[in-house]
Amino acid sequence: MAEQWVRVAATADVAEGAAIAVKVGDREVALYHLPGGEFRATDNICTHEYSQLHDGWLENGEIECPLHAGKFDVRTGKATAAPCEVDLQVFEVKVEGADLVLKVPG
Ligand code: FES
Repeated sequence: MAEQWVRVAATADVAEGAAIAVKVGDREVALYHLPGGEFRATDNICTHEYSQLHDGWLENGEIECPLHAGKFDVRTGKATAAPCEVDLQVFEVKVEGADLVLKVPG
């Protein structure tokens, strides 16, 4: 299946400095609104154990997992702090008018 862009939220749904969870098919995606108006998207499930990253803390471009305080760079998905070792999948996200649209891999 070809990749496609889908609307996942309104920009106003994600406060600056915060993250929300959205469902895209059966995938859970975290949307982040970085200070300055940049939006990013990653898998919402931590690669360490089961935890939803949007419940964590977004600081300096990193999301800290609420369960064991591992961290990921939300721009690259890279695991940046133990106990996380496996990187997160990242998704392209862009602003279209008042909406956030996400590129869903085929
Ligand atoms: S579940 Fe995220 S750091 Fe353990």
